[in-house]
Amino acid sequence: MERVSTGSQTVTLFVLLGFHDVPELHLLLLSVLTAVYASTITGNTFIVVVVLNSHRLHMPMYFFLANLSVMEILYASTAIPKMLEGFLQEAAISVAGCLVQFFIFGSLATDECFLLAVMAYDRYLAICQPLRYPFLMGPRWYLGLMLTAWLSGFMVDGLIVVLMSQVMFCGPNHIDRFYCDFSPLMLGLACSDTGVAQMTTFTLSVVFITVPFGLVLVTYSRNGVVLRVPSGASRTKAFSTCSSHLVVVSTFYASLRALYIAPSAIHSQLLPKVFALLYTVVTLIFNPVVYTLRNQEVLQALRRLLCCKPIEV
Ligand SMILES: *[C@@H]1O[C@H](CO)[C@@H](O)[C@H](O)[C@H]1NC(C)=O
Repeated sequence: MERVSTGSQTVTLFVLLGFHDVPELHLLLLSVLTAVYASTITGNTFIVVVVLNSHRLHMPMYFFLANLSVMEILYASTAIPKMLEGFLQEAAISVAGCLVQFFIFGSLATDECFLLAVMAYDRYLAICQPLRYPFLMGPRWYLGLMLTAWLSGFMVDGLIVVLMSQVMFCGPNHIDRFYCDFSPLMLGLACSDTGVAQMTTFTLSVVFITVPFGLVLVTYSRNGVVLRVPSGASRTKAFSTCSSHLVVVSTFYASLRALYIAPSAIHSQLLPKVFALLYTVVTLIFNPVVYTLRNQEVLQALRRLLCCKPIEV
């Protein structure tokens, strides 16, 4: 059997190096990540339970929110346990396992890009077109958008992973990240041609990261224009909500952009890991806080649920 390799045999296992170059941070990162993981799981489970059990929250906005929570639970569970393992021992992962991890993780990140844009659009319709909102965001629309959000990520990343699985790895097998990611595999470790995979990923990232982010910026800036009209505290509050959404969403998109659209522009060893931490951890912490804890409706529903009052119809 002919192999397009540089001589040595094909790699079957990868080793994730994680933050091996900063051992003094291990204890800190280990505790922070454990706390983030625990709170992500409990916080988001709470959100899903509250939304599903409160009829008052059966509205597109809260369906989107609960779906975002499901995505975050899956997303955290794909990445964080392997990261934690890396602090305790060398985290080895099979080549297939590595591609599966990237597939699930990448798909969910792409899903989130889409869903965050949908959520911004939903708020835009509710604020700027309040009268037409019930028609513009009827069941057919929000179900369709939700389905598209889930499917788009898995289709886009499915295609990328199929291309990645054609690539040969003939060693070394150390991945200088804390999870399996596109650029260290394709730019660093591959020993066959990765041009097609790189071109495809670049194009898809531009479409699926930049376009949703552009939509988010446009919708929030239009909300901003409407909300700037000074009329009382509720507008100020709505404005501050929108701007905090914007900060979280920008961190998420900007770090994804840096990692997938211009990976070769980053020359530092540490910076990609910091970006990766940003878009995993920071969004995991801030999404529930920003979208939920500052939302009176959700808090009230949570209170009703915890006080064991009969669930309202
Ligand atoms: C996700 O969204 C769909 C439709 O938008 C909704 O029916 C479903 O209940 C949501 N999932 C959760 C866990 O809330």
